[in-house]
Amino acid sequence: MVRRGCLTMASGAALFAAGQVSRTFAIPRAETTAAQAVDVRGGGHTAVVGAATGNALPSLGLSSMAGVALAAGMSAKRCGAKRSSRVVCAAGSEGKKRCLVMGGTRFIGCYLVAKLREQGHDVVVCNRGKTNGGQPDRLPGVTDTDYEKMLEGVSVLVADRKDPQQLKAAVASAGKFDLVFDNNVRKLAEVQPLVEGIQASGGCEQFFLMSSAGVYGPTDVLPLSEENPGDPNSRHKEKLQCEQFLESQGLSWTSIRPVYIYGPLNYNPVERYFFDRVTRNRPVCIPYDGKYITQLGHCEDLANFMVKCIGNPAVKGQVYNISSEEYVTFDGMAKLCAQAAGGPEPKIVHYDPKLVEVPEGFPKAFPFRGMHFFASIEKAKRDVPDWTPKFSMLDGLRSSFQQDYLARGFDKQQPDFRTDELILSKAMSAA
Ligand SMILES: NC(=O)c1ccc[n+]([C@@H]2O[C@H](COP(=O)([O-])OP(=O)(O)OC[C@H]3O[C@@H](n4cnc5c(N)ncnc54)[C@H](OP(=O)(O)O)[C@@H]3O)[C@@H](O)[C@H]2O)c1
Repeated sequence: MVRRGCLTMASGAALFAAGQVSRTFAIPRAETTAAQAVDVRGGGHTAVVGAATGNALPSLGLSSMAGVALAAGMSAKRCGAKRSSRVVCAAGSEGKKRCLVMGGTRFIGCYLVAKLREQGHDVVVCNRGKTNGGQPDRLPGVTDTDYEKMLEGVSVLVADRKDPQQLKAAVASAGKFDLVFDNNVRKLAEVQPLVEGIQASGGCEQFFLMSSAGVYGPTDVLPLSEENPGDPNSRHKEKLQCEQFLESQGLSWTSIRPVYIYGPLNYNPVERYFFDRVTRNRPVCIPYDGKYITQLGHCEDLANFMVKCIGNPAVKGQVYNISSEEYVTFDGMAKLCAQAAGGPEPKIVHYDPKLVEVPEGFPKAFPFRGMHFFASIEKAKRDVPDWTPKFSMLDGLRSSFQQDYLARGFDKQQPDFRTDELILSKAMSAA
């Protein structure tokens, strides 16, 4: 077995369990710098735990699974127990890849990690260990046993990507990765040290960049196609620069441009915005005349697309819009959400957003941008022929309502409707 040197930049009480890490040692924070390290040996790997900004690590006897458990604040005993599982490992040992997923602890990252594990790949998630204790969240409907089985192939690499040196050092020392999924990139300065770290450890077969359909400039011809130019003034303009950078580095890269993403575990109140109102028989306040057309793609369809790109030469150096097959108006979204929640047609109140100034601290007035915003997914279907979105909007919204909205008790909470009240009072006085 090849002995690999692995470095964890520990910014909390967390560690990187690369391969079979069997022991860790406590490092009192005051005695540790980024350059200092403590050996963690086992299973042929040497993991080096460096505390750049962190706390002391507890001294524990750990398997790699328990390492993840530590990062996640879970009980090592609970995770160490032997269990049978229904998690399917499709890839034989030859097809098995070592994958780096940036982020990986919430929403889309969790679906991606679960799909990679279903296919038998090993996954290292790289994050600060702040969200969900550093480990991927459990997908809805997954049993304890299957969740734990899934986590057995997941290790946590702790690094803050706002600190370029820390990120580069952590990735460079973590051993070679076959696949890199940069899910949470926003800035060019965040992707550069990641690429340097990957190149220092021997390069990778494929590099996936999570971009956004928000990169496109204004257009009169819809749906948006990958041939539309990027907007140099867009909020996401640096994602375009990241694509150029990956090309300049000679990497086999693929960029993914989702429109809005929805589905269970969505932390953005997109579908929840509508469920909060239709389940309480409140009017749904919708800007303009409700006729703007938008598009939402299900998180599971997105993750499916990403794993189906693995080993596909057609996706090299390409960008893909990913979303659902359907387009929906703002009003249509309110109606579909009401239907998904099993309620009657919602009462919709249209308003002119220019007349409403939302005070600081109030919730956002509406989850979508006030413009037509939808994209063609034909290129993705052509180049990855065994992929097509499996969720219709209504089915996807039903899954969000049942498996997330009700399951997580959002129906029992008291949403903040102050912005609605403001809009409704303006709409009344304008009428
Ligand atoms: N949601 C949409 O509708 C939509 C649409 C189009 C495109 N996108 C794109 O999809 C991506 C969103 O993905 P996401 O929800 O997984 O990512 P995210 O919300 O951007 O990031 C969450 C993950 O990144 C980690 N993280 C955050 N800051 C970090 C830092 N400084 N250093 C290291 N790790 C850090 C978090 O863990 P810790 O907190 O533990 O570090 C967590 O695992 C973005 O690139 C977005 O542009 C989203």
